[in-house]
Amino acid sequence: MRILSIETSCDETSVAIVERINDFRVQVLSETTATSLATHARTGGIIPENAARAQVEYIIPTIEQTLLKASFNKNPQDFLKHEIDAIAVTYGPGLIGSLLVVVEAAKTLAYSLNKPIIPVNHLLAHLYANFISPSPQSSPIKNGRGSKKSSLARDERERVRVRDLFPFIGLIVSGGHTDLLYFNSHTEYQWLGGTRDDAAGECLDKSGRLIGCSYPAGPEIEKKANQFHLRGGISTTPRENVKFQSPLLHSDDFDFSFSGLKAEVSRFVQKSSPLPLGEQRPVSNGTGGWGEGLSNETKNEMCYALQKAIFDVLISKTLNAAEKFNVPNILLGGGVSANQTLIEQFKLKTKDQRLTTHILAPERKYSTDNGAMIGAYAALNYDPKPWNEITANPELYFA
Ligand code: KG4
Ligand code: ZN
Repeated sequence: MRILSIETSCDETSVAIVERINDFRVQVLSETTATSLATHARTGGIIPENAARAQVEYIIPTIEQTLLKASFNKNPQDFLKHEIDAIAVTYGPGLIGSLLVVVEAAKTLAYSLNKPIIPVNHLLAHLYANFISPSPQSSPIKNGRGSKKSSLARDERERVRVRDLFPFIGLIVSGGHTDLLYFNSHTEYQWLGGTRDDAAGECLDKSGRLIGCSYPAGPEIEKKANQFHLRGGISTTPRENVKFQSPLLHSDDFDFSFSGLKAEVSRFVQKSSPLPLGEQRPVSNGTGGWGEGLSNETKNEMCYALQKAIFDVLISKTLNAAEKFNVPNILLGGGVSANQTLIEQFKLKTKDQRLTTHILAPERKYSTDNGAMIGAYAALNYDPKPWNEITANPELYFA
């Protein structure tokens, strides 16, 4: 089963061709991602119309490029017609303009080529990035079928050892969502809790703007936090007045809340770099006004404290869920799971508590939005729908 999968729910236009290996693994044969991040960095965040316009511009070239790579520059149209079994597409949640582009493109392909189409929930797909085997980008497609032998990276050995990932607790941490789910099998899952307001990534992005980081702030916050940590050695802790509260850390549920943390960061910045009387702080775009009065050392310290406040509650509630449901595995997914400190802290905490729970996170490039995860979900939950019944759903959540 070979699937052409397309993801454009936000600012990435990402297309992949994936192949199902077995019930728990897919291999990526080819992938291309175009991003309009530079445009959004200039505006300090995503303006939905700008994102949708970029999707319209990128969608066809990105599909063509992915087919070209997979067919080794032969004839992409022939390859699409004869070697692709189905089309998979994100239909929500996300920005309506961006979703409309991808859904209409996928429906047109499915209708004109008479191929099955599988609509995919973007959030569930983030967890399915863990089911992707690392595959050499150049793996040749011999006799029309892909080579199934791929060199196993270290992480993959861990995955093979775990083999059957079910049952697991899934933690989705992205720019728009923070959710905890219990999975018993591909089709049986239960939502346990999620954020009551801002998502973890959103908190990083918005707080980052206040500190003076560019959009998206997550990667820069990780770097700055590491600089603070490395400077002072292993035992570095932020000064008492730079510590932030971990929201809902001790609540007896699986809920999260991050908007108060953002407000705390805002208060700290205003207190630390007061403006002359009568002057107004501009609306922050990460480039001026906010964070200007803070020293680099203080910014690094704040990033460390902010990350810690967010990660402590993510880790604590996820481990509580793993204990309650007695699962052997925890799967992370979403852009924030690209953060190496989060993964390391998860592993350290399980070790400290003498737990045998395995912590798995996608390969870094599959943590943030990508087409391959859409293909992974579709290949392992093959459920085509009539093309004319598929509509973009920006509010899509869990069934
Ligand atoms: O999953 P994703 O690409 O898009 C959504 O579905 O929202 O996640 C984007 C989020 C942004 O908030 C970004 O700041 C965050 O992921 N992010 C990170 C890192 N890389 C991306 N957060 C922390 N550390 C990172 N290394
Ligand atoms: Zn996402």
